[in-house]
Amino acid sequence: MKKLNGVITAQRFNKSTLETIFAIADTMKAGHFDTQLLRGKTMVSLFYEPSTRTRLSHEMAMLKLGGSVIGTENAREFSSAVKGETLEDTVRIISGYGPDVIVLRYHEKGGAERAQSSSSVPIINAGDGAGQHPTQAILDLYTIKQEFGRIEGLDIALVGDLANGRTVRSLCYFLAKHYPNNRVHLVSPEQTRMGDDVKAYLKKYRVQFSELTELDSILPATDVVYQTRVQKERFVDKLSVYEEVVRAGEKLIITPDTLKRMKSKSIIMHPLPRVNEIDRAIDADPRTAYFRQAQNGLYVRMALLKMIIVGYPNGSN
Ligand code: CP
Repeated sequence: MKKLNGVITAQRFNKSTLETIFAIADTMKAGHFDTQLLRGKTMVSLFYEPSTRTRLSHEMAMLKLGGSVIGTENAREFSSAVKGETLEDTVRIISGYGPDVIVLRYHEKGGAERAQSSSSVPIINAGDGAGQHPTQAILDLYTIKQEFGRIEGLDIALVGDLANGRTVRSLCYFLAKHYPNNRVHLVSPEQTRMGDDVKAYLKKYRVQFSELTELDSILPATDVVYQTRVQKERFVDKLSVYEEVVRAGEKLIITPDTLKRMKSKSIIMHPLPRVNEIDRAIDADPRTAYFRQAQNGLYVRMALLKMIIVGYPNGSN
């Protein structure tokens, strides 16, 4: 058996590991899992920023597999960070208590790497500022595979605040390295274009991609519209810029009219939470995949916890 040594950035994954995650997630989704698999094992959830899905799906995944969870949902206020303790010291102390894994959401880019350098146990990056959110991107890929049966030959539009959205950054890294045979459309207001680091990575892997400020011209051919919210928390002390971006993004709101112009087999994704960038009036349309996507997060995280704590066979995909 080999073990997955945490989840820090998308670039560190190889394709066979991704495919093993998908295969194990399939068995979890089908209900074929041992409810005592992680008995006696412990996960610490250490969240310096708010979360509903990422924290609770990791915790539920751990509990469904028989493990235990301790943690804090607001480490910036309720941990010794408030007294000035560094992330490195906090993680060093926690890992010394002997958990099997630490799930960390941090408010600064690079937080997961800093934590891993101080930890004797694997770290799962549950989002680090405007850096990355690799487990979300894995569940996004899993959802695309579930919906289309493949992750190739698709037109994928990533929409919204691409400058600050960590999920779309991780997703681009995965698509570039392992699924380059898709066409990626980066659709955002001018102020929140995708970062040059990610675009350079797409170029390195020869991904066909375009940058746009409107959706209309690509909607009829697009398979996946992956909408995101403006990341208000990244505009602290820049309220006027935030309001400008929200106004510029109004033309990207997904409405019933948007759906009329999309293919019958296309899907709308969103990492959630949403604010106003998807009109709730479309929620009943079968092409809206965002609630199925969030549900898939549970199965993907069950797979990840199994692969980190128990391991998976050498030679499995
Ligand atoms: N998608 C996501 O990361 O949601 P939460 O912020 O609720 O965890």
